[in-house]
Amino acid sequence: MAPQIHEFSESGEWIRASVEEITRDIPKNTAFSLALSGGSTPEPVYEALAESSLPWNLAEIFQTDERYVHPEKPESNAWLIREHFLSLLPDPEIKTHFFLSSPDLIWEDSAKVYDTLMKSRSVPFDVAILGMGPDGHIASLFPNGPELRENEKCAVTSETNQFPVWKRLTLTFPVILKSKKIVLLLKGKEKEPALEELLHGTKSWEEWPAKRLLGHANLHVFYWRG
Ligand code: 6PG
Repeated sequence: MAPQIHEFSESGEWIRASVEEITRDIPKNTAFSLALSGGSTPEPVYEALAESSLPWNLAEIFQTDERYVHPEKPESNAWLIREHFLSLLPDPEIKTHFFLSSPDLIWEDSAKVYDTLMKSRSVPFDVAILGMGPDGHIASLFPNGPELRENEKCAVTSETNQFPVWKRLTLTFPVILKSKKIVLLLKGKEKEPALEELLHGTKSWEEWPAKRLLGHANLHVFYWRG
């Protein structure tokens, strides 16, 4: 099925519709799992998601990627998820699986630990919530990176010199694309050309990794023009 694209001029509507889609198909009384990305876009959506009436005691929260910095630093995706989501939940003690980052574990070993965790799970994520960089990266899968073609490992290291924190930890495409649903969140005028390239551009998926998502049967794009 073609991706469902939803564009909004109002942030409130964008947030409400994104949360509605994220929660819509979550089973009401069985375990479910969400994979959360970082960056800045998801903050208000995570805050609104925390107020939804999902059975959080049945939830398992994973990360799509992490920057290799101390989890207490604001550049860390774990910090974003704690600050704008977990801390707002009725029961912040829900099951979460963060990448272990500096200095708790050396970079490569952290990827191995998360890879083992992901391989121990047979159930795909109910929803993977992603953003997209201005270069078309999703999670920490950057253009032309060797990790784009990783098909064995579920989690690997990756590197960028274009964005904050060069050393990264990321899920690979096979795990992300196995999700039952993918919600891609975009906001701001600066993302308009990126969305145009995603939907109508001529770059290959190696040059624009988000294009790998277009083949997913249950992809929903929520764009607030800002
Ligand atoms: C990260 C994210 C990354 C993010 C994009 C978009 O670690 O930065 O996981 O994949 O979704 O970079 O970031 P913004 O939402 O800040 O534009």
